[in-house]
Amino acid sequence: MTAEKETQPQKWWQKGVIYQIYPLTFADGNGDGVGDLQGIIQRLDYLNDGDPDNMSDLGVDAIWLSPINKSPMVDNGYDISDYRDIAPIFGTLDEFKELLEQCHRREIRVIMDMVLNHTSNQHPWFIESSASRDNPKSDWYLWQDPGYKDGLPNNWLSYFGGTAWTFHEERQQYFFHVFNENQPDLNWRHPEVKQAIYDMLRYWLEMGVDGFRLDASSVYSKDKYYRDNPVKFGATDKNAYHNQDHLYDKDLPDNHEIIREIRNLVDEYEDRVLIGETFIDSRLYDSNSFYGVKNDELHLPFAFEFPFSPWYPGYLQREIEKKERITPDGAWPTYFLDNHDIPRHLSRWIECALCTNPIEIAKAAGTLLLTLRGTPVLYYGQEIGMEDHQNIPKEQQRDQAVVATPMGELPPNRDGARTPMQWDASVYAGFSFGKDVPPWLPVHANYQDVNVETALKDDASILNFYRLLLQVRQGSEALCRGAWRTLIHYPYEHLAYLRETETEQVLVLINFAYEKPLELDIPIEEEGWEVLASNIWELGKTLTLPENLQSFEIDILKKV
Ligand code: GLC
Repeated sequence: MTAEKETQPQKWWQKGVIYQIYPLTFADGNGDGVGDLQGIIQRLDYLNDGDPDNMSDLGVDAIWLSPINKSPMVDNGYDISDYRDIAPIFGTLDEFKELLEQCHRREIRVIMDMVLNHTSNQHPWFIESSASRDNPKSDWYLWQDPGYKDGLPNNWLSYFGGTAWTFHEERQQYFFHVFNENQPDLNWRHPEVKQAIYDMLRYWLEMGVDGFRLDASSVYSKDKYYRDNPVKFGATDKNAYHNQDHLYDKDLPDNHEIIREIRNLVDEYEDRVLIGETFIDSRLYDSNSFYGVKNDELHLPFAFEFPFSPWYPGYLQREIEKKERITPDGAWPTYFLDNHDIPRHLSRWIECALCTNPIEIAKAAGTLLLTLRGTPVLYYGQEIGMEDHQNIPKEQQRDQAVVATPMGELPPNRDGARTPMQWDASVYAGFSFGKDVPPWLPVHANYQDVNVETALKDDASILNFYRLLLQVRQGSEALCRGAWRTLIHYPYEHLAYLRETETEQVLVLINFAYEKPLELDIPIEEEGWEVLASNIWELGKTLTLPENLQSFEIDILKKV
């Protein structure tokens, strides 16, 4: 609940804003329709041009790249076949070094996605491991003999549907995969596996990457006795995975030990960050346990509260209050609205919103994300109000890891939230430089209205609102590090909270019911407030507090 001690400088990853890039669909530099490293390099000035006097960029501080390593792309990069190389569709190792250099020149940090729970089944480690029961890597994966459970070793399930066990002819044994059968899980109990992974992490850290986002970081470790997971009484989730208590294949104590080891390793290098996908569905724990008892695990464990909340102030406020209460001293929260696995917030929330205007929802959501105490993570396109493509024809779908799984009910296809970044109103939204090649996934039909070029010219656009929010945030100690304090306890249509340090207070008001005026019963009449409001602001200017606030839907009031 307390503000960071103001005498201690904040780390870049506490003060900064992180931007997730899905490389396949961010920008295509070589004109083959697939996003790549050159495309990203060419678009860096949009993210941050490194010139503090030029305010026309978005102003983010770091990019997180979804996996760019060599991969057969069954799960679009989350199935790695060579951890030390770059997938040829994205470019070469030299091009990655160029990207690093270009980012660092602009003061953009680079965070790599590290998929350490599993490899691709095309990885040489798995090819060797699966060849026989007695090769040097035979225990690098989780192999089990057929068992009692319809011949399966136990009742563990795949998150992508069906059993988590696939039979391998050569070994006459099953291997375990929490995701697709093409993504066998590594055996994290094997010292050589750990060593190989840790050496590989050093390889990237020495090259200069600024940190990692650890994929699926709560499922590395599994029960060594392979005990059955208990079934949740009466649970009827469409995805049977959620009907089990993952007592034996998730969140095990050893998992924390592994993350502590990775953190130790990362701490040997200056100023790096460790983020984790800590998707917890156990009733006993929450993602905060991944800070570690001594703040010695993840710097930023992703909390999934916002993505799984309805767009309703009461729910969101409860989640913020929870986060504020349970974040340990010395630890730092992080929030996100969207990522590559879930529908974008504008598509998720439009149904349940108290207002039906996507532009207003986007501005209100952006205000929330960028004014909380914690590191905000943006997902590409969120800043221009991109929405999910709801009806990608079957033959154009790319999320094979989910659709190809043969058994069980499946989680929804994730392609809708991964469509090409909408750069301009030209054909295919300007995705490919200089060429009109159909992109890897189809472009959303709204690209002629919703795109970067158009948004930059419109003072009232979502993009310009985000740009302003980032600037305001960067210039405000209270927003960067101040304590968070709510001003209302049973919110219905708005959120009102303060961010404050000893010398600065910022009052944030977010009206979730845009069509209705904002009525607040809080003392804001004091002198000296400045206000930034989403429907009356002018770029780069602050406005003095008007007598009547009722016509504003989002305001950031600042008292210095
Ligand atoms: C994570 C990724 C997701 C991927 C899965 C398997 O949840 O975010 O995209 O499919 O791990 O690696």
